[in-house]
Amino acid sequence: MNKTMLLPVLMRPAPTPATPATRVVATVPPLYEPALVRQLFNYMALTYRWHAILVAGLTGWWRRQLVARLPLAPGQRVVDLMTGTGELWSRLLPRLGPTGRVRAVDFSSSMLHAAARRRTALPAGQQVSLHHADACCSGLASGSADVVVSAFGLKTLAPAAYPALAAEIVRLLVPGGTVALLELTVPASGWRRLVCLHYMQALNCLLQQIGGPLTIHAHLLSYARRFATLDEVAAACRAAGLINVRVEQLTGGIASVLLAEQPAR
Ligand SMILES: C[S@@+](CC[C@H](N)C(=O)[O-])C[C@H]1O[C@@H](n2cnc3c(N)ncnc32)[C@H](O)[C@@H]1O
Repeated sequence: MNKTMLLPVLMRPAPTPATPATRVVATVPPLYEPALVRQLFNYMALTYRWHAILVAGLTGWWRRQLVARLPLAPGQRVVDLMTGTGELWSRLLPRLGPTGRVRAVDFSSSMLHAAARRRTALPAGQQVSLHHADACCSGLASGSADVVVSAFGLKTLAPAAYPALAAEIVRLLVPGGTVALLELTVPASGWRRLVCLHYMQALNCLLQQIGGPLTIHAHLLSYARRFATLDEVAAACRAAGLINVRVEQLTGGIASVLLAEQPAR
């Protein structure tokens, strides 16, 4: 799929939310087709680190909040699903000591190339391994993660895929293991939604003015606009068997973190 095919699909209005029953049989809306999402991130890989600047460093602060909530200990094994260019690693590795491991999963080869460059530059980079795979079927060994994390990857995932993602998390975690998922959550109504949408619109205009490869970042906003809560992801996690599933709002609800545990057997 080339860029001229990608852009019209991303510009379509948000689809009417399907009921859980219709979702089971519905085909994946074009916006969430894995091939399209992968292509979007392949285009974005070279400029992805600009994102932190575009959102005034907020994403970095939210990632810190995510890691601060994890019961990490030296020697633990973490799986970072939808790792991007490895934005979480510099916060995870100091908590894992010299024997801890991070296995980073992403389905965009360009993002993984950028991740490989980041890994080379990190002092503890040899503790990270990269895996080119879909987050919903990573191919990693069952029961091989003390902790599963994921930051900012949920909004481009089809809601119909939440049960598969939750099942994969359950498969990866050891008994008593922890999962933490972070995402932007544009409030569904009220003044916070208005503020978020206006901010996104302003950012969109700025990106169009700047032009060049940064323009592609405007498309992430199309996904963010449609993602209001982690409730459906939380429901999928409960249905898959995770316990103590709770969602915490950050910065007045414009980002949220979901935490849950695998039952101890
Ligand atoms: C917005 S970036 C987030 C990157 C990083 N975790 C961060 O904190 O900024 C989303 C990443 O998830 C990846 N991704 C999206 N859907 C995926 C899937 N189903 N399987 C694997 N990777 C996926 C994309 O390729 C992209 O690198």
